[in-house]
This record gives sequence, structure tokens and C-alpha cells, in this order.
Amino acid sequence: MARGIPIIKRDDLIFAIKLLRRMRDPKTRFDEKEFMKSGRDYLYNYAEKNVGPLDPSRRAFLKGILIGIGAAAVLSAIPVISYLNQPEISLKQFPWVIIVDSSGNPIKASQIPVNDPEILLFEYPMQGDITFILNLGDENDNPIKVPPTTVVIPENGKTYTFPGGVGPNNSIVAFSAICQHLGCTPPEIHFYPPKYMKVGLPTPNFLPQVALQAAQQANAPGVIHCDCHGSTYDPYHGASVLTGPTVRPLPYVQLYWDSNTDYLYAIGMNLNAPTILGRTNDLSGYAYLSSYDESTGCPKMLLQSGQTPSNCYTELESAGNTYQ
Ligand code: FES
Repeated sequence: MARGIPIIKRDDLIFAIKLLRRMRDPKTRFDEKEFMKSGRDYLYNYAEKNVGPLDPSRRAFLKGILIGIGAAAVLSAIPVISYLNQPEISLKQFPWVIIVDSSGNPIKASQIPVNDPEILLFEYPMQGDITFILNLGDENDNPIKVPPTTVVIPENGKTYTFPGGVGPNNSIVAFSAICQHLGCTPPEIHFYPPKYMKVGLPTPNFLPQVALQAAQQANAPGVIHCDCHGSTYDPYHGASVLTGPTVRPLPYVQLYWDSNTDYLYAIGMNLNAPTILGRTNDLSGYAYLSSYDESTGCPKMLLQSGQTPSNCYTELESAGNTYQ
């Protein structure tokens, strides 16, 4: 079973952004070494002292992030810090993983809210590889069919194909939630649905004019924007780059929708797309997901339910994968 990562709700998003600001403020600087040594209690005490009281749900939110993705999401200014000193390990091929909620229950595609500004994340293909899952819609919050797109990599002018959305309306997409500029993660990089496509909105939706203009020119009803340094991505067109400083689109995770169960699977990535930031190869990382059986590559949930598929890996082709 895939490790579920909690949805980051709007109030929690605002809380997390305030927390990050305090962490960076020289007067209230967060002591990373102390955090690595003392763990979550240090974070709780720090948050209470510098942001405000932690009620049980806020405490659970912080705990969920720590359990789900380690320090990376909390300390988004210093991404993947807890992984940097670990040796890399490799996958043979991309595994199939059922996407589940924080309780371990499969997420049903038809129940993912359209244009939800709350952030729904999962990890793929390795632990720490946090990924957005979005159900995209139009200005009226009706699901929108996301067609295949050719995506340009501004860094080198190369292109690759984003295969489009999946689900009952072909509107569900998944992209790495690690900014391709310097690696900021949620909450600082997050989805701005159509209703937040204005300038002058309060935190956390303070979209700059340049991002808004770029989105209008690209006919993007909403964007993924990174508040760290202003990179903007178009999730309606393969998370292509709308504004820098990034010169690389967000890599996508190929989803598969089982129309019988309404479950969503993560099944691969495109080897022609940019790698997840910091990776030499998307098949390498620092820890395997606990959600799949290493010998078959099948989700444990599938095997435990009595099914015995012979092979759940996504077969790779030399030029990428079969789902381009
Ligand atoms: S890390 Fe996202 S814009 Fe710099």
C-alpha cells in the first residue's frame, strides 16, 4: 500500500507558510541540526513559540508531514536535506503503485475535487519524491479534458510528449512537487486554481502580475506557482514553464485509471522529460516505497487481495516509456 500523505488544507497551508517565514528570519532562525537531533518535538516547540498554539489537528498535520515526507516539506527552503548524505539506490523499472489517502485507502478518481487548492500529494517513484495530484477544471470548476501536449524544455530546446489527463473526465494529472529551480516543495510551490488567478490576493495566493500574464498568453486557466523565487508552471499543458527562473518543466508521473474500481495507479515516468530535481535518473533515489513488492513490482495491496499478476512493472522502451 502506498504511503498516503495528508492533504495540505488551506488553513494548514497558511500556517505552514508563516512557519517557513519564521524559520528563515535571522531573528527566529530554525536550528536544522537541533531538529535532526531532537526530531518532531523540537519542531512542535518551535512552531508554538514562533507561530502559535498547536491544536491537535495542527499537530497531526505537522506530524503527518514529518512521517510522510520527512523534513523536506517542512523545511522547504532546504529541500531533501535528510536524503543528501544517503547512498543512492536504483529501481530496475518503474513500479505500479496504487495511490491512497493518509489512512491507506485507495483514492477514488471520481472523488478528487475539481480545482481544489488544497494540496494532495503522494510519493513516486521513491520515498521523498513528492508528487502533486490535481483534478483540473475550467473557470466554473467543471472538469476539463487535458489533452496530450508537446512540452519544450527551455534549458536545451528538446521536447517530449505529455500524454494528457486520466480519470472519468481525463482531467487528472500528476507532477513532481519539487520545484525544478532550487527544489522548494509544498507549501511554497502550490496550485492556483482559476479562482485564484488574480493579483493582490492575500497569502498563500499572492500571484505576481508576470505569472498571470504568462498564464493568460498560454491559455492556462490555473497555474502551479513557486513562491520561493517565482517559477510558474502550466499544469494544463504538461507543467511546461510559464515563468522562470526555472528552465525545466516539472516532470510528470504517468497515471493509470482503472474504470472498474475508480482507483488511480502511478505507473511510470517519461525518461525524456527532465529528471526530478537532484536526481541523475528517475529510477534512482534514497529509499524504496514501502508500498510495492520488490520481487514482482506489484502493489502489495493487489497481492494481498489475492490477485497474482505476473508483472506489474511498466515496460520501458529505449526512447522513454510506453506511455508517452
Ligand atoms: S525553488 Fe522554486 S522558484 Fe526557486
